[in-house]
Amino acid sequence: MSSGPIDKILRKRLSSFAYERWRDLREEVSAMRVHKRGVRAAQGIQWPAEVRLNIGCGPVKTPGYMRVDFCPGVDIRVDLRRPLPIPDNTASEILCEHFLEHLRYPGTSGSFLHECHRILKPGAALYISVPDSRWPMECYVHGRDEWEKVCAENNWHPKWMETTMEHLNYHFRQQDDTYSDGHFECHRFAYDEETLALALRRAGFSRVEPRSFDTTRDSEHRRIGSLFMSAFK
Ligand SMILES: C[S@@+](CC[C@H](N)C(=O)[O-])C[C@H]1O[C@@H](n2cnc3c(N)ncnc32)[C@H](O)[C@@H]1O
Repeated sequence: MSSGPIDKILRKRLSSFAYERWRDLREEVSAMRVHKRGVRAAQGIQWPAEVRLNIGCGPVKTPGYMRVDFCPGVDIRVDLRRPLPIPDNTASEILCEHFLEHLRYPGTSGSFLHECHRILKPGAALYISVPDSRWPMECYVHGRDEWEKVCAENNWHPKWMETTMEHLNYHFRQQDDTYSDGHFECHRFAYDEETLALALRRAGFSRVEPRSFDTTRDSEHRRIGSLFMSAFK
């Protein structure tokens, strides 16, 4: 949303904290409008017998998957903190790469996983990946620099970061003081295998299994630094 004259005045008059809350409210109102339009558009979809969904896809184009995200240009553009406009038992597979960590835990992430479970066909699976948070912590505790080297090689973090603690904070929060903590890019929860499996079981998945990177579905740029899991309805 572009910043108008009111925004400019508030930016000058308010503390940075209060200004961020204003910006969050403005963006939430805009998100509600976009979501409403996305729900209306989704109501017109004739769902085929087999449909694979990439939820939280971002700009990633995965052939054979219907793409769902808040970013423009996807097939279903909605706010994934809200109920999904997709009927029960519809999806033959869900792929969800590096999205869950953007939701608050346990409330919003739990409802999102329940929604994935609801829209999957019986026996179908959610193939999920999130940042692996055990690896950076192990490197920190044992004084190993391999994780930081991979961060630098892949441009995961802003260039100004030097210390391991700066990198760790960014891994957990994915925000710096150029962003408010309301925006969609920040991280809100970190997972390890035990916690992700528990969240999936709590959402009703009957079989939850750790898995390896799979070239047939996972994006190449998620091969390193990810925790992969399958969850069957
Ligand atoms: C780190 S990107 C992952 C994109 C892609 N799956 C990948 O692995 O490269 C996180 C995505 O979550 C989306 N996102 C975050 N919060 C969202 C929300 N509440 N509703 C819809 N999309 C959201 C963002 O738009 C962004 O595309």
